[in-house]
Amino acid sequence: MTSTLNPASEHPAEIPEYPMARAAGCPFDPPPTLRAKQQEGPLAKVRLWDGSTPWLVTRYAEQRALLADPRVSADVTRPGYPSSAPVNDSSKVSFILMDDPEHARLRRMVTAPFAIRRVAALRPAVQKIADDLIDDMLAGPKPVDLVEAFALPVPSLVICELLGVPYADHDFFQDNSKTVIKRDATPEQRSAALGRLAGYLNDLLGEKLTNPGDDMLSGLTERIRTGELSRQEAARMGVLLLIAGHETTANMIALGTLALLEHPDQLALLRDSGDERLVASAVEELLRYLHITHNGRRRVALEDIEIAGRLIRAGDGLILANDIGNRDPEAFPDPDRLDIQRDARRHMAFGFGVHQCLGQSLARLELQIVYSTLYRRIPTLRSAADLDQIPFKHDGSVYGVYELPVTW
Ligand code: HEM
Repeated sequence: MTSTLNPASEHPAEIPEYPMARAAGCPFDPPPTLRAKQQEGPLAKVRLWDGSTPWLVTRYAEQRALLADPRVSADVTRPGYPSSAPVNDSSKVSFILMDDPEHARLRRMVTAPFAIRRVAALRPAVQKIADDLIDDMLAGPKPVDLVEAFALPVPSLVICELLGVPYADHDFFQDNSKTVIKRDATPEQRSAALGRLAGYLNDLLGEKLTNPGDDMLSGLTERIRTGELSRQEAARMGVLLLIAGHETTANMIALGTLALLEHPDQLALLRDSGDERLVASAVEELLRYLHITHNGRRRVALEDIEIAGRLIRAGDGLILANDIGNRDPEAFPDPDRLDIQRDARRHMAFGFGVHQCLGQSLARLELQIVYSTLYRRIPTLRSAADLDQIPFKHDGSVYGVYELPVTW
């Protein structure tokens, strides 16, 4: 059976390295090699930093099927998992890299604050955060770095408020988060950064155990008290929520703004419409078009799986490259066109299956508020640097820009 399903089409010398490099001058498009692989077929082999050759799944339908398949595991410590760096004790950053029932047990403990209705109640607070930061920008000197002045503080302030983390410590946790998601950080650097963050969260949990407030970390201390959760598990969960809560949204705000500035017709539509439905649709389209978590969803097969005429064997690594999946012409006609009026809601920028983004309602709320406020309040906003001068995060597991100088 194997020889017909897996013909020897991939000569070892022809297996490309993953991640693949983006083309110069096309900062919003996935790498051309990835596009070529998608055109060849839904599955191919790629080579990772450690010489392993997991499957690369390039097309939307197969990615969705595999992400929803209980025969695939997200457990980073399983042999065959296509890790982006050496795995050690600190690699298992809470439930995002675990399987059910462990994953479900931990995720359940933090789902309530991210439910759509609870998140909707945050709208006035998030709007005020965005408006205050824009007031500061307008009152300050020009040009200004949009990342530092706006894109990073909005989600950082929001997640700090939700978790009960003092925003005054933002330099500390932002610096360490940056190291954790940097592709070229050494394992020692990444472990040390995770260790510092876990230590910080552990201390905060200690304070909240004696003096609880009305926040998520205090909620977790209740579970520590009842024995449902260990303090180490709670600290690691805090690290995951803190990193996931600000890094991703911050990059979407800055890169989304740059993409709109580079597509002035789309920006004008969004700015001048005043229609909430168009704002919501623009958020979905920008999530699809930019797909900032560009390192692929990583999994390992628990059993043999036949898909698209190929045989994935138990123990084979899988990389579901959602960035190219979101540009699959079978799923989204004319996929390389940014069109904020299209229905992009089926995108996979938040993943799919049991690990689908826990914070997606919050991310949507923040992005809708930001995109509907920033360009309305600063209608003449423009980039203060040429595109080729802007430093892109090619070296990060979350894509975006390090800086975006803007003026008006
Ligand atoms: C635009 C912003 C965001 C994007 C693009 C994004 C993307 C993703 C993706 C692709 C996954 C799936 C990972 C996988 O399957 O391997 C994920 C999971 C997750 N995200 Fe987000 N995310 C965003 C914002 C947030 C926010 C604001 C939070 C809030 C804390 C958050 C918390 C999480 C958590 C906890 C998980 C793990 C879920 C699980 O394993 O069950 N994310 N996110």
